Formats: sequence, C-alpha cells, structure tokens
Amino acid sequence: MSGKGMDGLDDDDDGDEAHSMRSHAPASAPHKQESVFLERLYASVGEHDGSRVVLALDFAWDGSGSAMVERACSTIDALAGYICSVKINMHLLLPLSMDEIKHINGYAHSHGLPSIADIKLNDIPSTNTVAISHLADSNFDALTINPIIGPDALNDAICNAHSRGMGAIALVYMSHRSAEGSYGMQVGRVEGKHGSSSRLYRVFLEWALASHADGVVVGATRPETIRECKSYMLGAYTHGYRPALFSPGSGAQGGDPSLALNNGADYIIVGRSILYADDPVDEASRLAKISSRPTTNR
Ligand code: XMP
Repeated sequence: MSGKGMDGLDDDDDGDEAHSMRSHAPASAPHKQESVFLERLYASVGEHDGSRVVLALDFAWDGSGSAMVERACSTIDALAGYICSVKINMHLLLPLSMDEIKHINGYAHSHGLPSIADIKLNDIPSTNTVAISHLADSNFDALTINPIIGPDALNDAICNAHSRGMGAIALVYMSHRSAEGSYGMQVGRVEGKHGSSSRLYRVFLEWALASHADGVVVGATRPETIRECKSYMLGAYTHGYRPALFSPGSGAQGGDPSLALNNGADYIIVGRSILYADDPVDEASRLAKISSRPTTNR
C-alpha cells in the first residue's frame, strides 16, 4: 500500500510522530472476489420492488425472548415488501438464544431477506474466528467488522467470513456525533523512510478495499464523507469486485436518507424511524420509494 492518503495526497511529512503507526497492506490476499452476500442482497432488491432499505430490528427488551422473536417475525411479515434485508445487533443478540436468532434469520430468509449481524467485530483473531463461526452457525449472511483490529486481522476476519459463506462489511465512518473524534482523527503513517498523515476513516477504507470487504459503512449524518468514500470506491471497482456502501443514521440520528443515497450510498440502514413511526408500513414504503433507483452498482 502506498503511504499516500486515499485522495492521493501526502498530507504532511511528519516522520517522527508517525513512527508508532505503521500502514501496510494485508499479508495475504483474500481468496475470492465475487461477493456471494451482495449477490443475495441484490436478488432481494429485485424481489422487493427495488428497495435499498436494510431494516434494523432494534427492539427494546420486554422481558420475554419468545415475545421478541414474535415481534421480530411479525415486523418482517408487515415490512418485507418494503425492505431488502434485516440487521440484528445487540438488542437481540444479547438477550436471545442462538436457536431464537436462527429462527428469526430463517424467517427473514423465507421472505427472501438476507440477515446482517451488526456486531462490529473487534477482537484478537482467535476470538474473531469463534465469533464468525457462531454467526455462520446462526445462519447470518454477513457481519460488520471494525477495522481498528488492524489490516492483517481485518483481512483474516474477512477471508474467514467468506470461507463460511458470509459477507463482511467494514466500518469506515460511524454515524454518531462522537465518531468525529475517532474515525475523523488525523493519524500518522510510516512507509519506509517517509511519514505522512491521513484521517483514520481513509485508512480504514483503504484496508477494507484491500481486503475485499463486501461493503463499508459510512453514516448518513456525513453526506460529504459518503461522496468522498464512494468516489474512492469507484476507483477500486474491478469486474468481480464492487463493494457496496451502507449508510445508517438517517431519521432518528438526523441524517437525510435522500442525500445519503444521492451522494453514493447503495443501501440505507434504518431502525427507529420505521419501527416507532405512527405507521411503520407507510414510512418503510416511503423510504423504499426514495431508495429504489437505477444503479450500476450491484
Ligand atoms: P436508527 O434507529 O438510528 O438505527 O435508524 C440505526 C441502526 O444502525 C446501527 N448503526 C450503525 N451500524 N455503523 C454501523 O455498523 C454505524 O455507523 C452505525 N450507526 C448506527 C445502529 O446500531 C442501529 O441498529
């Protein structure tokens, strides 16, 4: 990997400060280019009127696992026509059993909807391997990973997910306000004798693409960053590799879904503004319409 930032600029030469941060490409190339997950997701878009809405099944715990499973399934029943995928995070992963999660995933699949485990994987490789194995056994189609684990560990986790038939989506810039202080941070990089600096999210994007992540996450609260990242991603497209940009943070977090999509998001991830709308079907239908558009990105 070059020592230049993703925009090709050497921001500054700060050899001294940058010594503790080393930028390097993953040690081993991923073993496959085509994304089985994105093919499934794209098929789902086609089956669901072109909707690019990933529904976050973020229900508050109500004291009963079976009631939460029931709620997840009835929500899928009601909204399946307006979404292309579901996403499950700690709201359900912590309180529910693996059998209950498998049941929800199977239910989503029966409606043609792939399921994403939003766990933001972030641990040592041996633990990541165990986590990926459990998620694959729970019939998830993809998981989210935090690149802060470093380029080699990220590459290992992505290869591991691919070998288990799952897609891997890397965080690049999160949607909440405080993310500016980490994902937006200026970091020093060293390549040979040269030092340079870059914003952390740009480093994460480079690593994610170098490891052939199936997708990346950039918050809808940062439309200009979506535009910048998508432009860089387009340059990394090859015949067999066309990663997708997922954008959470519209609605409840203040992002504008239309702007996120217009600036390059391929999919919007939405939870509360659908789940807690006066009329969830109406809101899901509205978002499905604005997200459905001709696109060259599978
Ligand atoms: P709301 O209710 O805000 O829910 O529409 C958004 C969902 O997306 C998750 N989320 C993120 N996931 N990177 C992620 O991988 C992010 O930057 C991010 N921001 C929000 C959140 O957990 C919820 O499920």
